[in-house]
Amino acid sequence: MFSGFKNSCRRIHIFAADFKKQAFMAGDITLTMIKPDAVKKNFIGPILKMINEAGFRIVAMKYTKLSKEKAGEFYAVHRERPFYGELVDFMSSGPIVAAILEKENAVDDFRKLIGATDPSKAEEGTIRKLYAASIGENAVHGSDSDENAVIEGDFHFSKLERF
Ligand code: CMP
Repeated sequence: MFSGFKNSCRRIHIFAADFKKQAFMAGDITLTMIKPDAVKKNFIGPILKMINEAGFRIVAMKYTKLSKEKAGEFYAVHRERPFYGELVDFMSSGPIVAAILEKENAVDDFRKLIGATDPSKAEEGTIRKLYAASIGENAVHGSDSDENAVIEGDFHFSKLERF
């Protein structure tokens, strides 16, 4: 009977720790991809430098290439948009760098750092203003909400790939 009680306590403890971890992570992480255009133009280094200097910690990172199927899955929310096919073709056209970044207020701060989706509307000094060519080939992705940051982080990385 006592061991049953001990096991229940242990389960509650594990549940509480997991809950705390999830609660901590939502709001403190964002998912970025350095897109095929920026990789092709050798902008990985300068973009990572801006990310570091803005105070983001790299939790996970990989150099990879999305298949058409995986790119379609990642951007499934845009399936009905006229640019969906173009977006999937572009995002699977070459290697990318995917990363989970951590910082207080990560989603909003990262969106400020990258600038508007359309680089012609992006503020001076933002990543897209400096390194993006067009709305389609816009150099970097950044999650648009805390909820999507968690979903997108899980899309690219297992728990074992995070440090
Ligand atoms: P991203 O932040 O990765 O999220 C969705 C992407 O869709 C966006 O960046 C753009 O690259 C792309 N996108 C948005 N609007 C258009 C458009 N009008 N034409 C082509 N691509 C677009």
